[in-house]
Amino acid sequence: MEVVLNVLRKLPGMDSQSATFTLDLPRASTVLDALNQAKWSQDGTLAFRSNCRNTICGSCAMGINGKASLACGTRLADLAKTAPGPITITPLGNLPVIRDLVVDMKPFWQGLTSIAPALKPKPQTTDQESLQTPENRAALNQVSNCIQCGACYSECNAVTVNPEFPGPHALAKAYRMVTDSRDGAIASPPTMPRAAASGAAPAASNAPASAPWRWPRWSRSAASSRPYSRTKPPLPAEPSATAKPWLTWSRKAAGSTSGSLVCRWWAMIWGVWLAWCPWGSIC
Ligand code: SF4
Ligand code: FES
Repeated sequence: MEVVLNVLRKLPGMDSQSATFTLDLPRASTVLDALNQAKWSQDGTLAFRSNCRNTICGSCAMGINGKASLACGTRLADLAKTAPGPITITPLGNLPVIRDLVVDMKPFWQGLTSIAPALKPKPQTTDQESLQTPENRAALNQVSNCIQCGACYSECNAVTVNPEFPGPHALAKAYRMVTDSRDGAIASPPTMPRAAASGAAPAASNAPASAPWRWPRWSRSAASSRPYSRTKPPLPAEPSATAKPWLTWSRKAAGSTSGSLVCRWWAMIWGVWLAWCPWGSIC
């Protein structure tokens, strides 16, 4: 099948520009196969990362038709079905581009290390292994499958607006650690409230006294750190119905804010518009 790749390329010290490669490949090929073919047969300076070619190592994540995906896990035939036409390849987002499709993963790894991504085993009381039940292990299955590819980091709007945010991959790793039945850093996962009313850390009654649970360094504990406020300004005070009940009634009845209905009747009868009012200044 014929495939057209539009690759966003960036050379050091130059602006990004698009390069087009037209290739002929077997239908079972992946985007990584296409990039390899382009590099080997058309332009040996094309830079991208890959290693396992089997969706294991996470090296080949990149933007494919606007969505961060693994190049070795995306088949050309599938793309042709869902989005026929040229395939757009871009580097991962939220990360500085070094060259072409190669990005600097340092912020991604810093986010991961900020949550101390290692098991801290409970003190050993016997010389037996620290065993897990099948149920305990099953609770870790999904988050243990993270291959650190960076696709979620690339798509994360929270990272875009706040580079201090460690990223979804770090939260997945933190969840994986605190959920592990063998972890001794926290007796059981803390209950994290959606927002702390006073900016104070949440009560972590299950945390051991020697290692109190704290807000992670990226969290915003103070209410003032919110970049916007949804608090509406107070509404203007309603006229007091007890002080001048006739005023409230007459204004509502007339839909007016400048005079009572009685005044309007008086004005219609006598052809005088509020010039002289027998009730003084009641309205
Ligand atoms: S959680 Fe993120 S880094 Fe991990 S495999 Fe999924 S997309 Fe990749
Ligand atoms: S090359 Fe390893 S995940 Fe794609």
